[in-house]
Amino acid sequence: MAALLLLLLLLCLCLLSLIAAASPRVPALIVFGDSTVDAGNNNQIQTVLKSNFRPYGRDFPGGRPTGRFCNGRLSTDFISEALGLPPLVPAYLDPAYSIKDFAKGVCFASAGTGLDNATSDVLSVIPLWKEVEYFKEYQRRLIKYAGKAEAKRIVDEAVYIISIGTNDFLENYYLLVTGRRQQFTVDQFEDFLIDRAAEFLTAIYRLGARKISFAGLGAIGCVPLERTTNLLNGGGCMEEYNKVARDFNVKLQALIGRLDAKLPGLRLRYAPVYDGLLRIIADPSSYGIENVDEGCCGTGRFEMGILCREWSPLTAACKDADKYIFWDSFHPTEKINRLMAEETLRTSLAEFI
Ligand SMILES: *[C@@H]1O[C@H](CO)[C@@H](O)[C@H](O)[C@H]1NC(C)=O
Repeated sequence: MAALLLLLLLLCLCLLSLIAAASPRVPALIVFGDSTVDAGNNNQIQTVLKSNFRPYGRDFPGGRPTGRFCNGRLSTDFISEALGLPPLVPAYLDPAYSIKDFAKGVCFASAGTGLDNATSDVLSVIPLWKEVEYFKEYQRRLIKYAGKAEAKRIVDEAVYIISIGTNDFLENYYLLVTGRRQQFTVDQFEDFLIDRAAEFLTAIYRLGARKISFAGLGAIGCVPLERTTNLLNGGGCMEEYNKVARDFNVKLQALIGRLDAKLPGLRLRYAPVYDGLLRIIADPSSYGIENVDEGCCGTGRFEMGILCREWSPLTAACKDADKYIFWDSFHPTEKINRLMAEETLRTSLAEFI
């Protein structure tokens, strides 16, 4: 009799562990930010900054342009899949998805947006405060769909990914002659952005977010568009912009440390992306990369968004995007997004999974 009970107990334990293995490690992946992670929210708003046409999405399942600024999937899609969640993180405004899908993952990001309200104004995209408003609306819908307790569990235990800041410098501060540049030195502007990041992080913390990965800036001076403006100097990376990215990242890491210590239960982590890209640029062949300084789309020097549209064979994209770091003049190829996802899983997300 005792032996039978023991056997039953073992059987139960075994079944329990099987169930645990089959269910995802986190209930949902929730994404805020800009075009590095926008899965198609800009398709649904009035802006010129879109990518829901070919050749965007050329290497996506079904060759479908979704509004992702890439030939294929984004790093957040790869991360979601690695967490045992769906292989795509759907855009919140995409009518093809419902709250049933969003319960496992949702993207509030908008291409062209920034930490500064003035950045989203440039191309009339979704400001970051509005992304937070959508997050509130999402929670109300989640309660209706899953009930109060389950909605709270999803929000509390979800992993949050934030990727934002490049546009504040490249689309706003350095591009607009009047505006922030008249108001702030670049050092002051960095501090202003850090204050905005603190406001945003505190807001989503109050709304329940706990496990958060915040990406630092990449080597923003090395994107093909900035190299093009540097052609007179040989087309190398704009060191001035790379230095700004490094300086900003130092301040961002300090902020992350401060908030993480101050807000109870918060696990806010810094995701480093700056060094990863430079490592590939320094040694492309070991990644199977042949072109580090041009985008795959068109001439590779300036095409992005509407300019990277397949109007004619003349404006076609390169044959094999896997040989390129950049897909268009601003955004990495799917191959690089996959590598960045792997790095994020190894670093800022390691303790959450
Ligand atoms: C940005 O805009 C929102 C909405 O109008 C406002 O609540 C917020 O205070 C603004 N932020 C700054 C720093 O001006």
